[in-house]
Parts: sequence; C-alpha cells; structure tokens
Amino acid sequence: MNFMTDSEEIDALQERRIGHLNLWVADLERARDFYCDVLGLTVSSYGPDFGLPTVFLAFGNYHHHIALNWYCGDAGDARRPGRGGLNHFAILYPDEASLAKAVSRVLEHGVSTDDARDHGGTLSVYLRDPDGNGIELYYDKPRACWFDSAGHLVIKAEPFNVKQWLKDAMGCSLEAAAQPMSDQLLVAMQ
Ligand SMILES: [Fe+2]
Repeated sequence: MNFMTDSEEIDALQERRIGHLNLWVADLERARDFYCDVLGLTVSSYGPDFGLPTVFLAFGNYHHHIALNWYCGDAGDARRPGRGGLNHFAILYPDEASLAKAVSRVLEHGVSTDDARDHGGTLSVYLRDPDGNGIELYYDKPRACWFDSAGHLVIKAEPFNVKQWLKDAMGCSLEAAAQPMSDQLLVAMQ
C-alpha cells in the first residue's frame, strides 16, 4: 500500500469518483418510480420508448447516475442474472489520459479487461474484482457528445481495442490487454 505525501498527487486522485451505478431490476417501471419519487432522480433516457429494456436516471443534467436494466429478458440468456442487484459500478476519471493510466495499471497487475466500449458520451473499460463484481472505468467526453441533434441521450456501445487505444492515448505497449467481447448487451454495458 502506498501512502501519498505529494499534495498534487492527492488533488489529482480526488478528481476520481464513483460516476454511476448499473443495476439489474425485475420491473423497470416500479424501479423508475422508486428512484424518481422516493429519491428524487429524473429520467434522462427511457429505453422502452425505443425498444431497449433500460432506464437512465440522473440528478440534475448528468447523463446518468443510475442505469436500470430489466433482467427478465429472453429465456436462457446467460448474460442476465435472473435476479436484481449490481451489474457494475463505475469510476469516473477526469480525462482520457487519466483513464488510460488507470487501465494500464489494471493490466500491469495482471487483471484482464472484460470489455471496452465507446458509448458516444463516454469511453468505458470493464473488468471484475476478485469476487466477480463488475467495474467500469470511464471518462466523460464533452457534453456536446452526450446528446444527438434531437436532444436525446446518445445510446450506443461500439467496441474498441484496449491495446491499440492505450498505444494511441499514452504511447505504451501492453500485451495483456484483452480483446473486447463481441456480443454484450448494449444496455448492460452503459
Ligand atoms: Fe456503466
């Protein structure tokens, strides 16, 4: 364990924070009503309006602080857990360079990434802790990237190659980077 003494480094680390949570829920409307009515979040994107079993919720005008994913999808879909709970929590980095540094640290510790996605508004890398809990590392692109020309939240999940991205972002060469999975649920990866 490292104990930091450099105030500049401490300031930089404080720019990292938990950006959002992604939850599996049994009933989207019931969960939406709870988080909106009881806890005061607002809907930033309502997936059923365009065929996705997900609802994004936020405080203020952020893209989402909580994503709700309906787990009762197609029978036999192994990617859905069959119960409510955490899909992943997400650590927000202040910029791409900070994210790249964090991801390189993960790889240097021999931990593989599960997936990597360009969501339009965010660039996200996914992994799991030793107990299998999902973790997303991401940074927010400029706000102009969050919404489309109609003012709707951009919802996409384009895979990218972590190894190549790291080379481009910080000029490092890491052989341990995992290839992104090709068939993840878009809604589960936001
Ligand atoms: Fe996420």
